[in-house]
Amino acid sequence: MKQVLVTGGAGFVGSHLTEALLARGDRVTVVDDESTGNAKNLAAALPNERLTYVQGSVGDKQIVRELTANVDEVYHLAAAVGVALIARAPMETIERNIYPTELILSCLRERIQRGETVKCFLASTSEVYGKNPKETWAEEDDLVFGSTTRARWSYGASKAIDEFMGLASHREYGLPVVIGRFFNVVGPRQTGAYGMVLPRFVEAALAGKPLIVHDDGQQTRCFAHVDDVVRAVVTLMETQSAVGRVFNIGSDQPVSILELAQHVIELSASNSTIAYQTYADAYDEDFEDIRRRVPDLTRLRSTIGHVPDHDLDSIIRKVIEFHRHRVS
Ligand SMILES: NC(=O)c1ccc[n+]([C@@H]2O[C@H](COP(=O)([O-])OP(=O)(O)OC[C@H]3O[C@@H](n4cnc5c(N)ncnc54)[C@H](O)[C@@H]3O)[C@@H](O)[C@H]2O)c1
Repeated sequence: MKQVLVTGGAGFVGSHLTEALLARGDRVTVVDDESTGNAKNLAAALPNERLTYVQGSVGDKQIVRELTANVDEVYHLAAAVGVALIARAPMETIERNIYPTELILSCLRERIQRGETVKCFLASTSEVYGKNPKETWAEEDDLVFGSTTRARWSYGASKAIDEFMGLASHREYGLPVVIGRFFNVVGPRQTGAYGMVLPRFVEAALAGKPLIVHDDGQQTRCFAHVDDVVRAVVTLMETQSAVGRVFNIGSDQPVSILELAQHVIELSASNSTIAYQTYADAYDEDFEDIRRRVPDLTRLRSTIGHVPDHDLDSIIRKVIEFHRHRVS
């Protein structure tokens, strides 16, 4: 039986990953400070005696040392997430995203140096590509950030530092690291509180309120169901040839944000209208967005043969269903 640690396991992706690892038969420890997550996300998993929940921060050296001492695998998902949070609190974003990763990797490197075996997954993001103008983004493409005076780039830049540290830990110390760059992951339990677009739209549609589309709504994104993403993560961690490499993980089917809003209204049979808001009003004058964000999934497919189970309509229906139950 594997002993695994999931950081940020009370969060959206982390709670689904925890359930998948428990279903695989693992003994799972979750650490989460509940800054954006909530232990309620683990309600179905908590009665499982193979799950240990620690409310605490991965910025705490003592906690990280203890929790990484005996595990076989670490899935590091804890981070400051969400465009709204990042625009509001760039300092927190940088600290939360860099220091804990450094701490975790240094504890794992020590174990490797003692001749022990431990594997690590780092959750990164499509934001590391910044505003690269290419139609689709492949893992070896350039990272193209805007100025440091624009706070939103601190998220991608801090995650890029995490990736550099992870890859260096692999090259210099032989730590088996797998890095996944998530592209818009959606599904049940995701909150709209930090700017995530699909839960925001669904909550508005169910409440009969206008769906607020930023800018002209022509910016495109690809939405992947969290179960498909979790399956890719778990399979990558079981695949030896994935070690020491970076993978785009997500959907490669683009949809404009305006179309997404229209789909949500239609599938929820809502009377809501669509309203437009400038980025300056939504965030601040300095906010800079990315018009197109589509991953090249060639590497993911050739390494694990990944085929998603969900298309956009089925994802939207599931999110609507989740929010309907939450409201009722
Ligand atoms: N959801 C997406 O679309 C998406 C896209 C790209 C990357 N990611 C990455 O996936 C990971 C999970 O994101 P999510 O969408 O589930 O967000 P989330 O906010 O639901 O999950 C993050 C979790 O980490 C916890 N956390 C934050 N700082 C912590 C700390 N110092 N110590 C302990 N716990 C801490 C939060 O409380 C939360 O439960 C993150 O690393 C994020 O950068 C997510």
